[in-house]
Amino acid sequence: MSGEVRSLSAQVHDAFAAALRQVDLAGADPLVRPSDHADFQSNAAMALAKRAGTKPRDLAERLAAAVREQPGAPAGVELSGPGFLNVSIDDRTVWRQVEQRLAAPRLGIAESRSGERTVIDYSGPNIAKEMHVGHLRTTILGDALARVLDGLGSEVIRQNHLGDWGTQFGMLIQYLDEHPEAVWRPEDLAEGAVATTSALDELYRQARARFEADPGFGDRARDRVVALQSGDETTLARWRELVAQSQRAFQAIYDRLGVLLTPEDSRGESFYNDQLAEVVDELVKAGVAVESDGALCVFSDEFTGPGGDPVPLIVRKRDGGYNYATTDLATIRYRIRDLKASRILYVVDARQAMHFQMIFATARRMGWLTEGIEAVHVPFGAVLGPDGKPFKTRSGGAARLMELLDSAVDRARREIEGRAHDLDAAELERIVADAGIGAVKYADLSTSRTKDYVFDVDRMVSFNGNTGVYLQYAHTRIRSILRKAGDADTEVTADAPLQPAERALVLLLDGMGGTLDEVASSLEPHRLCGYLFALAKAFTDFYESCPVLKAGDERVRGNRLALCRLVGDSLARGLGLLGIAAPERM
Ligand code: ARG
Repeated sequence: MSGEVRSLSAQVHDAFAAALRQVDLAGADPLVRPSDHADFQSNAAMALAKRAGTKPRDLAERLAAAVREQPGAPAGVELSGPGFLNVSIDDRTVWRQVEQRLAAPRLGIAESRSGERTVIDYSGPNIAKEMHVGHLRTTILGDALARVLDGLGSEVIRQNHLGDWGTQFGMLIQYLDEHPEAVWRPEDLAEGAVATTSALDELYRQARARFEADPGFGDRARDRVVALQSGDETTLARWRELVAQSQRAFQAIYDRLGVLLTPEDSRGESFYNDQLAEVVDELVKAGVAVESDGALCVFSDEFTGPGGDPVPLIVRKRDGGYNYATTDLATIRYRIRDLKASRILYVVDARQAMHFQMIFATARRMGWLTEGIEAVHVPFGAVLGPDGKPFKTRSGGAARLMELLDSAVDRARREIEGRAHDLDAAELERIVADAGIGAVKYADLSTSRTKDYVFDVDRMVSFNGNTGVYLQYAHTRIRSILRKAGDADTEVTADAPLQPAERALVLLLDGMGGTLDEVASSLEPHRLCGYLFALAKAFTDFYESCPVLKAGDERVRGNRLALCRLVGDSLARGLGLLGIAAPERM
């Protein structure tokens, strides 16, 4: 793999794996972990003694001897307690790591996911409705996962499954026809295009009220659905206009959030319309979908309701119409057959868990989803208001995303403006936006994915604690040290001394690749947040005990500057993989 720097822990692992082969335990897990007592510890002898028919201590001694014989063996391998092996790395090797990582692309982190193709379904807002706080998590989490997987060499295909089809469009289009005075296009509005989501939301509310109050309108709206579905050109043109307006408003939010989604990633529900009949046909032919009460359904023993009755997945309604499930079946088939995904991730809130389990089970029965292809629902918890209930604005509606982002950026401005700095107004504004948006994203990402969290702007923009602003600030402090040193190229002298705080920092840096691998398999970005927070704290410890700019010895100063650079680059890289900016100053 190009540019990979083998981590210290991997090197230790390799030496133990080779030693295990030598003591006739080939293939056994070396169980190498970071340790408080040494640099690493192996518990292999404890775990394998029984299998080897010997006492842990005896096995540990043989293993230690075998490890010491390996080329590139770690400096120290010592027996401890009943059969643990403590491993220490020599100073030179530690400094060499710093040197190699600084010289390598991507900090030398292996592209452990190359060869894999991941389709990731995230955001998926609904056309003609405003994006609200409920869409925040899927958008932010999905984007971070897309970035991490891409960073590890997976080929990532983003899919924005827009809710751009359905009976609500009949209602909206009919309403627009009957109310030409309705205000909803940007040109109708006094202020810029971004306001259109609110206008569309308002339009939706009005149309809905009319629909409920006026049965005559209800009938005309239903006829309009039929017109839309049968491809009536004027109706379709109106629909396209609604979709385009909404998309523009969503894009404004994506751009402001700095998420990667573009219009090219949109594959809305409507994209699958002309595949639905065929999909249902296939299901019926395979005997997977059966008629029940006039509808076509997929039943399975796996999914039963409270009374023990099977819960059906309806794929064609009694009126002949298709639904969300039919569309998701066409979607998974497309992702496997056409996009050739090896892994499909659905970053969608936890309430849809049952829906996706049923879609996956059906796709398996149809032979689309086969061994070797992984389909995963990646659920997440809710965003709560200060009262611990689902977030609402003062007016009572689900909180609008743009307003929330405004409030975070305003709060960040107050925080940063008051600090001593020599930033001009434009630069300050850019940094304030980076901090405010980064704060919102970090708060979302650093919470364990399946937990709910409270949207608390004051806490989010704090310079203390596990926040985005704290990490951004830690990064700017390191950049400032490097600037003071003249931003010279750093040079590592491997045979210079190594302090404990320096060693601790390098060992922590050594774990970044492993952390990213964990994020990629568990799909939990908060592990990367926790890692970066620990790294920033370890840097503070190092900086307190190891003077950098005032170091007397040139070699020591050079090594410390190199270490600063590596930590700074690692923080910037980590924040980047979370989709958070790392400004140079703050
Ligand atoms: N539009 C849906 C919603 O707002 C989310 C779409 C999720 N993706 C999917 N393939 N069903 O609930």
